[in-house]
Amino acid sequence: MKKGILSAILIATASGAMAAEQSSPSGALRLTVDVDGNGQPVYSLSYKGKPLVAQSRLGLTADEMDFTGGFRITGCETGSVDQTWTPVWGEYAEVRDKYNELSVSLSGGVPERHMTLRFRVFDDGLGFRYELPLQDNANYLTLRDESTEFSFTADHTMWCIPGDYDTDEYLWAETTFSGLPGALAGYGRHSEAQRTGGNTIQTPMLLKSADPVYVNVHEAALVGYPAMLLDVDPERNKMKAHLVPDRLGVSAYLQLPFNTPWRTLIVSDDARDILASQLVLNLNEPCRIEDTSWIRPMKFVGVWWEMFTGRQKTWAYSDDYRAKPGVTDYSALPSNGRHPANTENVKRYIDFASAHGINGVLVEGWNEGWEDWCSYRKNRQFLFDKAYPDFDVELLRDYAAEKGVKLIMHHETAANAVDYERQLDRAFTFMKENNYDAVKTGYVGAIIPRSEHHTSQWMVDHANYVIDKAAEYRIMVDSHEAPRPTGICRTYPNWLAQESARGGEFESMGGNPPSHTCILPFTRLKGGPMDYTPGLFETRLSTYGEGKTGQAMTTLARQLALYLTMPSPMQMACDLPQNYERFPDAFKFIEDVPVDWKDTRYLEAEPARYITVARQDKNSDDWYLGAITDETPRTAVVTLDFLPKGEKYEVTIYEDAPDADWKDNPQSYRIRMLKADSRTRLRLNLASGGGAAVKIAKKS
Ligand code: NOJ
Ligand code: CA
Repeated sequence: MKKGILSAILIATASGAMAAEQSSPSGALRLTVDVDGNGQPVYSLSYKGKPLVAQSRLGLTADEMDFTGGFRITGCETGSVDQTWTPVWGEYAEVRDKYNELSVSLSGGVPERHMTLRFRVFDDGLGFRYELPLQDNANYLTLRDESTEFSFTADHTMWCIPGDYDTDEYLWAETTFSGLPGALAGYGRHSEAQRTGGNTIQTPMLLKSADPVYVNVHEAALVGYPAMLLDVDPERNKMKAHLVPDRLGVSAYLQLPFNTPWRTLIVSDDARDILASQLVLNLNEPCRIEDTSWIRPMKFVGVWWEMFTGRQKTWAYSDDYRAKPGVTDYSALPSNGRHPANTENVKRYIDFASAHGINGVLVEGWNEGWEDWCSYRKNRQFLFDKAYPDFDVELLRDYAAEKGVKLIMHHETAANAVDYERQLDRAFTFMKENNYDAVKTGYVGAIIPRSEHHTSQWMVDHANYVIDKAAEYRIMVDSHEAPRPTGICRTYPNWLAQESARGGEFESMGGNPPSHTCILPFTRLKGGPMDYTPGLFETRLSTYGEGKTGQAMTTLARQLALYLTMPSPMQMACDLPQNYERFPDAFKFIEDVPVDWKDTRYLEAEPARYITVARQDKNSDDWYLGAITDETPRTAVVTLDFLPKGEKYEVTIYEDAPDADWKDNPQSYRIRMLKADSRTRLRLNLASGGGAAVKIAKKS
C-alpha cells in the first residue's frame, strides 16, 4: 500500500478542530471524519458533490469501557491500493480491489482508551471498521452497543425485511423511512423466531433517493461478532446499528486486540453498479485454503421437493414419533411408506442426474432422527453417521460413483448446534468414507441448548467453525438458516452457497411474488450466493397431490433466467425428474448453463422491477443471458456489444410465448434460434412474472 502523510488529509473545521478527509480514487465519494463537541467520532459522506450521509456518530459501549466520547484525533494515515485477485469461483475471473484508505487513531478519557477507525473509500462505496488495540485498562470487553449511525438526507425509498434475530425468510417491504412503521406492521411473527419490536430491519437493505442514488447497506467479514441489524428513526431518515444480543442482552464478548466487521455502503447512481459491485468480497480476507483444487462448482438435483409439495412425503422413515436416534431399532419399525430417501428412489435421481450431466444428488431424510421432529419438532437430535434401514449407504456410494454422480449429504441439526459440534468430526469422517464432498446444513427452530439466536455472536462463531472444519476435511458447504453471508466465501471458498433469505421453497408456502427475485440480487446476494433452488417447471401446485392448491408466481421461462440472475456455484434444479422429462427442450438450458463465470455484464436493472444480465462461461467462449421482470410484462432489448467484434455466434432463446403469464399460462414458452454477432440486437418477451434465458454459443 502506498502511504500518505498526516498533514495532507487533516483539515481545519469551522470549530477550529482538525478533521480528516479521504476520497475515492475517482473522486466521486468524499469522506470526512471528525470528533464532535463530546469527543465522539463522527463521519459524513458526499457523492458527486452532494451530501449523501450527513454527520453520523460512531462508537462502542462495553461494560468495562466506553468508546463513544472524550476522544481526540491523535493520528491519521492514508494509503491507496490497486490490485486484482483471482476468486476460486464467482461472477468474474478477476476482481479489482481499488481504494483509498484513511485510518484515524483516537485516544482520550480517564482511564485512557484507544481506538482506530479504518475507512476504505472505493469508487463504488465505503467500508469502515473499529479496531480496538490491546490497552492498559481492558483486555476483555462485554459489548452492549454499537453507536454506528447512517444518517441520510431525505426520506428515501427503502427495501428491507423486519429485524429478526433468528430468520431472514421474509418478503421485502418497499417503503420509505417515514413509511416504515406501517410497512412492518403487516408482517406476521415467524413461528419460532424472535422478532425485535419497533422499527428494526436487517441488512443487507437498499435505499434509493429521488436523484436517484442507490445505496446498499450491509457488513463484510462477520467474524467473532454478532450480525448487525438497523434501528430506523423514521422521522430523521436515520439508521443506527443494533447488534443481535444473546439472551442475557450481551452483544459480544471480545478479547482485545479485536477488529469489528466492516460496515459497508455500496453507492451508485446507476442501479447496475450495485449488482456488479464486489466491495463486500474485497473487504474480506484473501483465501485461507491453500489447495483449492477440490472446490468444484456444481449443479444438483435432490430428494427434496417431494417433501414440500403435496405434503404426503416425509423426511421421517416411520410415523412413530417416539423413535429416538441411536436408541430405537429402526429396522424393527414399519416404514411409513412415504419416505422418498430410500435406495430405489435415490437411484432414480442418480440415473436422471447421470443422463443429463447434472453433477450431484442431494438426499434429505436419509438419517436417524426425523420422527419426532417431523411431527412435533421437539426432539432436536440427529445422528449424522447412521442411515435409516431403507437407505443403503454403501450401495448408493458405489452406484453414484459408477454413474459419475456425487451424492450430497444433508445435515439438519434442528438448531441443536452444540450437538452438531460434538458430532462434527465423526460426521465429516463418515462423509469422506462414503465419497461425499458436499453437505447441506440446516438450523430449523430455536437454537438449543443455550438459547442463543441464529445471528448472535455464538452462532456466527459456530458457522465459521463449521466452515473451517469442513475445509480441513475438504468438504463444500451449502448452509441453511445460518447467519446471512458477508463475503466470507472469499476467505473460505468451500462455502459455496447459503440460503439466508426466503427461497424458492416458499412457492409451496404462500408464494414469492415475482418482484422478490428482482430485489434479492440488490440486497441478500451482495453477501454471497444463495441456494434459491430455481428450476420449478411444474408450477401448478395442485398437480403435486392432495391438499395443495394454487400456482407458483412464475412462468417456466423465468425459472431458466434465474440461473443467470441468481448466480450460485452450487445451483439446484429443484423439480422432480418426471417434470423435467415432460419438457426436455427447456431442460436443455439447465443442462447447458454453467455455474461459474469469467465475466459478467449487468445490462438493465431496477430494484424489485427487472434485471437483465449476460455472463461469460468460465471454461469456454460462450455467453449466457438471463432477463426477469416483476408482474409487469416487458420487452428486454439488448445489444450483444459485449461480444468480441467479428466473431460469429449461434443464439438459442428460451422466452415466454406471447400468450404466457404466471397465473393462467405459465408453461407457454418458445425456443428460437438465430445467428448473431456483436451488432445483434435481441428483443426478448417477458410475460407477467416471466423471463427469458439465452445461450450465445461461439461458432467453431
Ligand atoms: C429448511 C430448509 O430451508 C429446507 O431446504 C430443508 O429441506 C428443511 N429445512 C429440512 O431440513
Ligand atoms: Ca429455510
